[in-house]
Amino acid sequence: MTEAAITVQGLVKRYGEVTAVDGISFEVRRGEVFGLLGPNGAGKTTTVECLEGLRVPDAGEIRVLGEIPSPTNYALKAKLGIQLQETAFLSRLTVEETLHLFGQLYPRHRNIRELIELVALGEKRKRQVRELSGGQRQRLAVALAMVNDPELLVLDEPTAGLDPQARRALWEVILGLKQEQKTVLLTTHYLEEAEYLCDRVAILDHGHIIALGPPRELVAEHFRETPIEVELSGPADGVDFSHLPGVARAVSDREVVVLYSTAPTETIRAVSRLAEEGKLPLRDLVLRRPSLEDVYLLLTGRRIRE
Ligand SMILES: Nc1ncnc2c1ncn2[C@@H]1O[C@H](COP(=O)(O)OP(=O)(O)OP(=O)(O)O)[C@@H](O)[C@H]1O
Ligand SMILES: [Mg+2]
Repeated sequence: MTEAAITVQGLVKRYGEVTAVDGISFEVRRGEVFGLLGPNGAGKTTTVECLEGLRVPDAGEIRVLGEIPSPTNYALKAKLGIQLQETAFLSRLTVEETLHLFGQLYPRHRNIRELIELVALGEKRKRQVRELSGGQRQRLAVALAMVNDPELLVLDEPTAGLDPQARRALWEVILGLKQEQKTVLLTTHYLEEAEYLCDRVAILDHGHIIALGPPRELVAEHFRETPIEVELSGPADGVDFSHLPGVARAVSDREVVVLYSTAPTETIRAVSRLAEEGKLPLRDLVLRRPSLEDVYLLLTGRRIRE
């Protein structure tokens, strides 16, 4: 099948005076991990809830697996796995009972034991949901999204509140879904997570998409030069950094000179040579890779997490 898993055309959603989503369009291809990124209030959850049929758009067109989402489109629901930003559980059911209960609502479901192991809740299998920590509940919510073995998973901040180790583990679960040819749409405000997981991302800001594409391409598009930080142990009189090979721009900040280079290897070689010849008191040299965080900063003038 070549048709997209999700298409969104000109989606608008308002809450009274607030325009939460202001005419966005994007496509999620089958088999890809697609990320919706943005700070608090950007419109991620609103978009996701429209895709899930939980909210009715004010304008625009949505197709999810070829269908129009709605609360009563049960055929679509069977193919969809949803993890909401906040999940309400039945607090006296155990982890295992919870998954069994929801699994039974579908014509087919994954093996519950395996699912519990997958999200590393094995030790908590017989525990009531109310006894779980926030991070453990979060993992249970992700397991619930997978219980019907859906073609398409929509995960709203799946790694929120998880410690670094649990976050990493969940990344592997998500990449495992991709291996199984599933399509995943996730929201996050962790840019390094998006860089690691997503084939493509849309950066949302105030209800608008301000950038869309594969993370690496977005970074390359906005940053042609690689920053190289040269740390000095003393003055480097007589060295004209801006004329070193590859250097487009040099910015000095006390003992550190940042060289923006279009040919980092050549620039580094030239800097090392100057140091070897005793012309440059070099203490350290760091090559920094610009990231999505830099792209976001460049486009909005703000950091995504204050
Ligand atoms: N039920 C609601 N009623 C009124 N306004 C809402 C409602 N839900 C969201 N909003 C507003 O819509 C905007 C977008 O909210 P949304 O929850 O989609 O953002 P988000 O990107 O998911 O943010 P977060 O990262 O905090 O989850 C915000 O300004 C928010 O205050
Ligand atoms: Mg949200």
